[in-house]
Amino acid sequence: MASLSTFLTLTLFFLSHVNAKEIVITEEGYTVTTVFDGHKPHIFPFTVLQRPFSSDLILLDSVNSTFYTAQFPITEESVFTRLSGDGSVGYSDGDVGSARFAKPRSFAFDMRGNVYVADKSNRAIRKISAKGVTTIAGGEFSEKSRTKDGPALNASFSNDFDLTFIPGLCALLVSDHMHRLVRQINLMEEDCTLGSKPGLGAVMTWTLGLGLSCLLGLVIGIVVRPYIIPNVSSSQLVKMIYCRVKLLTPCPTENCVDRKAPTLATSPRHGSVT
Ligand SMILES: *[C@@H]1O[C@H](CO)[C@@H](O)[C@H](O)[C@H]1NC(C)=O
Ligand SMILES: *[C@@H]1O[C@H](CO)[C@@H](O)[C@H](O)[C@H]1NC(C)=O
Repeated sequence: MASLSTFLTLTLFFLSHVNAKEIVITEEGYTVTTVFDGHKPHIFPFTVLQRPFSSDLILLDSVNSTFYTAQFPITEESVFTRLSGDGSVGYSDGDVGSARFAKPRSFAFDMRGNVYVADKSNRAIRKISAKGVTTIAGGEFSEKSRTKDGPALNASFSNDFDLTFIPGLCALLVSDHMHRLVRQINLMEEDCTLGSKPGLGAVMTWTLGLGLSCLLGLVIGIVVRPYIIPNVSSSQLVKMIYCRVKLLTPCPTENCVDRKAPTLATSPRHGSVT
């Protein structure tokens, strides 16, 4: 009797699992376009990411342990030029062009566009910056203990890990699949700050200046609003503020022309406020 009920339970179990249906809910409106084919240049795309605040794409070919770069938009005519790694597996820091990696798994950017590489088979985290390639964690000096925290160069990683940059923490989070750990590596503050990059600094300062002047304009707009626009609805006000901010930017302003709205320049109070 017991064996019969066991048999029935097992049968029911299998039936319920065999009958478990996949649920597919489709959503229309997306299109797939091939923009790059690695067959001819013998490139095996593994991951492609955009370098922040630039039009550079970085492509990782994990098979050949090589990083390539291209400008977007990518089309079939796009040229991927070698950035780092020479096609051979190895461990070599220093010059970006001649550095070697061992089956890198993933990579991430900080705010300055430095690249952090989960160099899988070297069990190391490498950094590609304007100064060259360095090791920031794991690698040669790592200890056997898999859980020891502390100086990153003494930490060890398995040969199956991924990393990602978390801007809010100014840190890398490493998910070590084999060790079943998530570990945090805090980055240098200047690598998480906009405007710290030489050359890019001027643009960032300019953008910041623009942002501040927008904010100032907005505040002035709100302060003088009761005196210059007595009968304006809040939706109109939002539109005006939006347009005022837009007018301060170099973008086209044709969507923002509102002849009825008085501007700050015509306000007699403008001078006394500033
Ligand atoms: C990448 O590796 C494959 C196989 O190892 C090789 O045939 C190919 O030429 C390599 N690609 C480049 C661009 O070196
Ligand atoms: C920790 O790393 C440093 C290099 O950064 C190395 O000199 C030292 O020997 C390492 N310590 C251990 C216990 O491996």
